[in-house]
Amino acid sequence: VLDLLREIGREADALGVEAYVVGGMVRDLLLGIPNLDVDVVVRGDAAALARAVARRRGGRVKEHPRFGTAVLILADGFRVDLATARTEYYEYPAALPTVEMSSVKKDLYRRDFTINTLIIQLNAPFFGRLIDYFGGQRDLKDRVIRVLHNMSIVEDPTRAFRAIRFETRFGFTIGGHTANLIRSAVRHRLFEKLSGKRLLMEIKALFSEPDPYPSVERMAAFDLLRFLHPRLSAGPATRRLFASVGEVLAWFRLLFLDLPVEPFLVYLLALFRPLSAEEIREAARTLDLPGDLPERYLVGTPAFPDLLRRLQNRRRILPSRLSDLLSPLRTETLLLAMAAGSPLARKRISHYLTTLRSVRPETTGKDLRALGVPAGPLYRRILDRLRAARLDGEVRTKQEELALVREEFGLGPASPDPQPLPPPDALPGGRAP
Ligand code: CTP
Repeated sequence: VLDLLREIGREADALGVEAYVVGGMVRDLLLGIPNLDVDVVVRGDAAALARAVARRRGGRVKEHPRFGTAVLILADGFRVDLATARTEYYEYPAALPTVEMSSVKKDLYRRDFTINTLIIQLNAPFFGRLIDYFGGQRDLKDRVIRVLHNMSIVEDPTRAFRAIRFETRFGFTIGGHTANLIRSAVRHRLFEKLSGKRLLMEIKALFSEPDPYPSVERMAAFDLLRFLHPRLSAGPATRRLFASVGEVLAWFRLLFLDLPVEPFLVYLLALFRPLSAEEIREAARTLDLPGDLPERYLVGTPAFPDLLRRLQNRRRILPSRLSDLLSPLRTETLLLAMAAGSPLARKRISHYLTTLRSVRPETTGKDLRALGVPAGPLYRRILDRLRAARLDGEVRTKQEELALVREEFGLGPASPDPQPLPPPDALPGGRAP
């Protein structure tokens, strides 16, 4: 990456433009945190610089002329975002002090927090020079999140959530003045103007951090949760559930199952746990999520406590019954049930996810066709029955499966001396094709 940055600097020199790394990468470099998201701000034509680097290194460039941005995608897939420094500012009075600023400084002034405004120059004669226009180094040292001007949160209310995210991630504190600006934005209910999609993006980002519960507490302290739903709150039950979800997700990640899961959604369902189905529907509407969230994921419906009760009941459950109970459920629901349930419930769901879920009979539809099974629902019935028999240990080999098909469904190449196939309507539950 260092090599690439030098190259960008040399190409910038050749084009007669200034180029700087900016944002998260610089911040994290100073904090000693790995971050290879390269964002470059250019005083000049960002797309031209991207093209020049692509010509030399190989790779392609995606341009977004409307925004003055370009993405450089190298042959190995590594991406660099480049942006032309934006000199225009908002139509707000806060823009006043920007008049005498350079274009790069004006661009930085539009950004969220001082810790994100540090830049490092790439041009060869100045390669590696750190420039700190707004006291970002001091705030990194003092571990505070500070906006650049009073209109920052008004201009972009999502920054309240971003501030909390950085606070939680780095163990920083939101500065006193910035906290007041957030409180004022809450009083003016500016968050009601955010689209569901943007609000959801912020929540998703918060809940994708390694330990999101402190963020929930901070949202509660700023009274921000009510913009998701007025009945949401932080408290010991939510704290415990979040801790449990964290453990379950960590366990799940280590399994490397072929099951896609949205970890943030498991936390979101955990946050919604105290709400009724109707309230969850309201919150889903606010966040632009599907209105049938309760039915899809069972949260807020009686089906969820019912599921837990069954899983926690000490009476033996046949593996096939356990599989029938869990297979219709979404993975996020299973993980939430693991987090919310007793050790026995957890053990059963884990057994289902790691073992039962992938049990299949060896007999296939093709085998059944070869046995002369007439087209129709009988296939499903036989295969389901075989799967259950496998799960419960009634059969262990293909031979045993075929013997079961013979016995229970009266089918199959009976032994050496083949029996004629019964007419389809003589089969148990069978239908003529
Ligand atoms: N930014 C902003 N206001 C926002 C979102 C982003 O000013 N509402 C600015 C920030 O200064 C940030 C830059 O755009 O440095 C890039 O945004 P993003 O990639 O979201 O932020 P990072 O700081 O890189 O955060 P992360 O480490 O989570 O990727």
